[in-house]
Parts: sequence; C-alpha cells; structure tokens
Amino acid sequence: MIEEIYKADCSRYDNGMKYRRCGRNGVMLPEVSLGFWHNFGAVDPLQRSRDIMRYAFDHGVTHFDLANNYGPPYGSAEETFGKLMKDDFLPYRDEMFISTKAGYDMWPGPYGNWGSRKYLMASLDQSLKRMNLEYVDLFYSHRYDPETPLEETLQAMVDIVKRGKALYLGISRWPLEATRFAIDYLAARDTPLLIYQGRLNMLDRAPIDEGIIDLCNESGVGFISFSPLAQGLLTNRYLNGIPEDSRMSKEKFLKKSMLTEELLDQLRQWNTKAQSSGMTLAEKALKWILDTRGVTSVLVGASSVAQLKTNLGVIEKQESAHSKLI
Ligand SMILES: NC(=O)c1ccc[n+]([C@@H]2O[C@H](COP(=O)([O-])OP(=O)(O)OC[C@H]3O[C@@H](n4cnc5c(N)ncnc54)[C@H](OP(=O)(O)O)[C@@H]3O)[C@@H](O)[C@H]2O)c1
Repeated sequence: MIEEIYKADCSRYDNGMKYRRCGRNGVMLPEVSLGFWHNFGAVDPLQRSRDIMRYAFDHGVTHFDLANNYGPPYGSAEETFGKLMKDDFLPYRDEMFISTKAGYDMWPGPYGNWGSRKYLMASLDQSLKRMNLEYVDLFYSHRYDPETPLEETLQAMVDIVKRGKALYLGISRWPLEATRFAIDYLAARDTPLLIYQGRLNMLDRAPIDEGIIDLCNESGVGFISFSPLAQGLLTNRYLNGIPEDSRMSKEKFLKKSMLTEELLDQLRQWNTKAQSSGMTLAEKALKWILDTRGVTSVLVGASSVAQLKTNLGVIEKQESAHSKLI
C-alpha cells in the first residue's frame, strides 16, 4: 500500500490553540501537549499512533513528550516517534518541541538506570538515534536519584546542552529541596531549568501542597502536569464500568482496586457539575489544572483521535490564562 504524503493542516495555528510562556523563558508551549507513555509502543497499531500525532499537530499541539523507556517494549515509543518523524514530520521539525527523559530502568546492569553521568549521556545518544533527531528540545532527569550526587546528574545535563544534544533542561518528580538546588546549580552555569514535570490533577494536588508550583513560580520555571486526567479516571471512561480496551483493564499502571465506590461517587458528582456548565468531565479536569497559576501546559495521553479531540475541547473553555490564583 502506498501511504499518502502528510501535509500539515494550513490552519493549524488558527484552530484556537493557545500558547503559554514557559516560566520566565523565551519558549512557549501549547496549553495541551501530547505524551507518548502509552499508545505509541511497538504493541500499538502504527496507523492509530500516526493518526493521533497528525491530529495533534494539525490542531496546534507542538509539544510531544517522550522518555527512553516508553513503549512497551522500552524504547519503542521513541522508535515509533522516529518513524513518524521520518515519514511525516521532518519538514516541520522547527515547529515542534520534543522532549525525552532518562532516569528509570532502561537496560540491564549498573549503567542503565538512575542519575549517573554514564547513564544519562548514553541514554540520550540512544534516544536521538531511535527518534531520528539530531537534538531534542528538552531533556529531563526523569526522577531524583538519592544516591548519585546531584552535582553529577546536573553537570551531565549542563554538558548535554553544551554539546548541542538538547536545547533546554527539565526535571521530573524531584523533591522540593533538590529542585531548589537544581534551579540554583543550573542558573549558575547559564543553562537554567526550563520546566518541572509533575503529576497535578483534581485527584492529586501534591505539587501545590508540597510547594513545587510556588517554587517554580518564584524562580521563573515552567510547570507541566503529567497524567492530568489521572490516567483516564477524570473522564467518562469508568463512570459505567471498566471497558475491556481501557488502561484499567490491563491492571498494570491503573489498578481496578483504585475504582472504589467513594471515588466513583466523586467522579459522578464532578461529571454532573461539568455537564451543567456545558463541559465534559475531561474538559473540566484539564481546565482546573490550566486555571492553576504557574501551570504552562497539560500533558495528556490519548488512545484515539476521538479522545484527543475531546481533550482539546478545553482550549475553548479557557477564558483567560492564569485566571485563578491558588
Ligand atoms: N514524568 C513522569 O514520571 C510521567 C509519568 C506519567 C506520565 N508522564 C507523561 O504524561 C503523559 C500523559 O500521561 P497519561 O497517559 O497518564 O495521561 P492522562 O491524560 O491522565 O491519561 C491518558 C489516558 O486516559 C484515557 N483518556 C484520555 N482522554 C480520554 C477521554 N477524552 N475520554 C476517555 N478516556 C480518555 C486514555 O486511556 P485508555 O487507554 O483507557 O483509552 C488515555 O490513554 C505521558 O504520555 C507522559 O508523556 C510522565
């Protein structure tokens, strides 16, 4: 079969997508970004992944978030991305903001995990090959490593930028004091921290309660929320049972035991409230995050174009950026 050549929609920047400045930095991110944790592995149909990515880009989503070990198997989401890049998106590289990460287990032995210079450097080289890229826009430390000196992890990241392999740096899931250290360390070396990636959603306010968002705000660092829909809980996906094709039915990252009667009651109440204000539950959940001061973008996942379309509906529901003070 001859695959038609992709041509991005000419009206992709006129579809209503809004872009927010990432902290006090020059770069802007779309209010809704697309994550590749699920739905882009070798186990997923390539055409569906392609349709989701095309739909995203055609609707102003310019930020795509990956990690070395997204799949399954590990590395395969980056490979899918590399294939789509080669087939469809190379002409649009400069319109895209692409991130990857290292920090979780990736390959066996002592050098394929955590935060050593050895691991981060090798991992990013591998990621670039898989993704068919010369550089990523953003490279993250995927998690805090309590056993590697922070200076080692951070200096490796500084050197990654100096070698032209990443334009900006981010950290994900680092605790408050280590984040403060990272902000100071990187600023002193002229490679300031661009963004913090943390889980913030209507069911998990930890980055607010722990002071991460306040620290980002006062330091001019952006904040991007991962799993903004709590992996699908904050949508209509589970209101009437557990669909066979859902993430929860796989029992790996989202367990059936999480869906208690109490939680279902809460979700149904939020759903009714959302509907009475003319929104879906997903839109309400994303709007709640985007209304939090200091949030740059929500990083959604989607297993179909229809889901992504629903989630992008939040853009119209946003009256003004940063309208609610926390
Ligand atoms: N830094 C980190 O440690 C970290 C951790 C986790 C995630 N992330 C990043 O955040 C991204 C998003 O995470 P996530 O996938 O957990 O995000 P999410 O948006 O909270 O959940 C996405 C899942 O929810 C369901 N869904 C989404 N929209 C829906 C809709 N409108 N109606 C019904 N169901 C819907 C789909 O699951 P079904 O399969 O059931 O259809 C979809 O795959 C990841 O891809 C990754 O880039 C980072």
